[in-house]
Amino acid sequence: MKKILTSILSLGLAASAALAADTITAVKVADVASADAWSKAKFSSVTLYPQTAIHMNDKKANEANAADKAKKADIAAVYDGKNIALMVKWADGTKSVQGAYSSDTYSDGFAVQFAGATKGAQPLPYIGMGSAGRPVVVHLQKSTASVYEPNGNKDVSTQVNRQQTGIFGQELADYDAKVASLAKTDYERVFVAEGFRSLTEIKDGSVKSSASMTYGNNGWSGTVTRALKDDYVNFKGTVPVAIAVWDGAKMGRNGIKNLSGWVSVNLEGQKPDAKIVAETTEESKGDAAKGKEAVAANGCAGCHQVTSSDAPNTMAPSLANVGGYSTVAYLRESILKPSAVVVPGYNRNAHSNTPWYTIEKGKRVSTMTDFSFLDKKTVNDIVAYLKTLKAEVE
Ligand code: HEC
Repeated sequence: MKKILTSILSLGLAASAALAADTITAVKVADVASADAWSKAKFSSVTLYPQTAIHMNDKKANEANAADKAKKADIAAVYDGKNIALMVKWADGTKSVQGAYSSDTYSDGFAVQFAGATKGAQPLPYIGMGSAGRPVVVHLQKSTASVYEPNGNKDVSTQVNRQQTGIFGQELADYDAKVASLAKTDYERVFVAEGFRSLTEIKDGSVKSSASMTYGNNGWSGTVTRALKDDYVNFKGTVPVAIAVWDGAKMGRNGIKNLSGWVSVNLEGQKPDAKIVAETTEESKGDAAKGKEAVAANGCAGCHQVTSSDAPNTMAPSLANVGGYSTVAYLRESILKPSAVVVPGYNRNAHSNTPWYTIEKGKRVSTMTDFSFLDKKTVNDIVAYLKTLKAEVE
């Protein structure tokens, strides 16, 4: 009897440990901006997968990212009466800060995406920046070098003769310190999006937020603080978030990034939103091996690159990491109702013969075959197989 009990107990423990990564508790604090706000925060590990759905038209960047692995990030959250703050820590051995005026270098950066909840957060928006009728708010922070250019001539650095440091040593040091203190460093943006091409920067001050990132110990630590309620969101109980990080050394930008799936952040002391938590933690019920056979039998690979070892296919998004950043509900819907969410072809112009959607009566209609004729079990099996499609952690 004792033996059975222990094994039941350990099963229970294993199950709750697995859940920990998908649900995070935002610890209630008096003020998220106070110095000790993070002292009680609990970090959880979240996996970020290479976003391979959309292929960029950049040979060098594609080569640099060809063998990409998934990354781990540690995230924690705190909240007070008004605001929620998230901290994200991830390893990056190559610190890349974009130079003030260079366009051929890329910066490290991160984003926290919130599911816009004013219209109801469910089903959760498409992970790649929302979808029609399902908006997201994206807080983006990049590391950029300090610049002080009051006249906009980009000539501040040329206004002193650096050969003369022997004579002007202290003055030059004072000058540099002054320039640094006046410099505006921040690249911080907030966007609202209902799909990739609809990305719109919010500049009217209607979102109160702040973000920052600091480098140390071979990695970054970034924070985003925003209101729990504004024109775009109204969070109670559970806040659905997703995290993206960019690696400047690998020419990361736009679509070249690592992305998590939706994660539920439960506000401590409030009743979690059971539906959102269920959607972010749902496990596939099917048989992945049977699903693999069904994918072959239904010709999915005719349009999709299914695993990263298959040749790229421009007919449709690559599914190589789709299991890493997609929910079970989203995958099921992709099969049964392809036009419910239409993934925007990033280089649509480059593949004008094989568009991913057509426009009918102003609405995007997916060119994917409608597989709603498949029986429920086969769909579950396919979803179980799709959930296995993801890169290993580096
Ligand atoms: C005729 C070409 C075609 C076939 C066959 C096809 N698809 Fe698709 N699929 C697409 C296109 C195009 C898109 C992108 C537009 C959209 O979102 O529907 C897509 C999107 C998807 C997505 C969403 C991908 C993402 O990154 O979010 C999934 C998942 C998917 N398909 C799974 C399947 C499965 C499973 C099969 C086989 C049962 C299949 N597809 C067969 C063309 C196809």
